[in-house]
Amino acid sequence: MELKNRTLSNFAELVESGECKKFRGRLKVGVDLGTANTVLAVVDTNNRPIAGISAPSHAIQDGVIVNYYESVQLVTRLKAELEERLGVELPYAAAAIPPGVSEGSVKSIGYVLEGAGFEVTNIVDEPTAAAAVLKITDGAVVDVGGGTTGISILKDGQVIYTDDEATGGSHMTMTVAGHYRIPYEEAEVLKTTPEKEDEIFPVIKAVIEKMATITEKFLHGYQVPAVYVVGGSASFREFTTVFEKKLGLPVYRPVHPLLVTPLGIAYYCDLPPVTPKKK
Ligand SMILES: Nc1ncnc2c1ncn2[C@@H]1O[C@H](COP(=O)(O)OP(=O)(O)OP(=O)(O)O)[C@@H](O)[C@H]1O
Ligand SMILES: [Mg+2]
Repeated sequence: MELKNRTLSNFAELVESGECKKFRGRLKVGVDLGTANTVLAVVDTNNRPIAGISAPSHAIQDGVIVNYYESVQLVTRLKAELEERLGVELPYAAAAIPPGVSEGSVKSIGYVLEGAGFEVTNIVDEPTAAAAVLKITDGAVVDVGGGTTGISILKDGQVIYTDDEATGGSHMTMTVAGHYRIPYEEAEVLKTTPEKEDEIFPVIKAVIEKMATITEKFLHGYQVPAVYVVGGSASFREFTTVFEKKLGLPVYRPVHPLLVTPLGIAYYCDLPPVTPKKK
């Protein structure tokens, strides 16, 4: 996990500081339109993180674009900001979809990127993108984001199964809101305040158990040596303990679980061959 954690820490620092690394050659972009956050990752052709940007968004719900115009505007703004920082244009990007979404949703995710001025050169599914960053060839990657719990099972470097089900961080927030009888927005702040974690954890533990039950169902009939959890909702300290208890398997979480999938999407950005200029 060491090397991947270093790459992830480097990327997190770029997202937090707004700085970029020096680069040579062409750049690849990954766009992760999420239920809670939209993240753009920029890497070089060796998949070294060069820049990144993140903004809260409500672009997607259960894998479906719910806010097309707003999403286009947001991606347009984030693209422009990165281009300004880097001093180059970013023409190409890869997009991602949660596993198991309909053909129509796949298209509309592509349309958002195109609407923002990108040429979409690849569309990958989210847990597969995460697996590339974690360099997993055998095991299961579980992405617990804002709205869903998604899985990719890999064997000998091949994705052999993907699936996705509603239950994510927003369900945790609703549980916190109900428990304390406070509005959703207030509950979201409370849930993500590190100092409050010990108090909040017992309240949301049942939601993590539900996520583990969903994962157990997905894993039925597959032998995996380990499970890797990514996505913002895996941030809770004891998250992996709850999963391990339910699954009876080793469960690993990389540093910055929120940024694994976005970075992996950029890895999958194809760059079209450069056509030589005519004399
Ligand atoms: N420190 C934290 N502790 C607990 N939850 C957190 C923390 N940081 C972020 N989250 C939660 O993680 C979720 C967002 O995660 P992520 O960005 O992976 O989701 P997304 O990609 O937008 O959603 P999806 O993949 O479901 O479309 C939100 O519900 C947010 O509240
Ligand atoms: Mg996500």
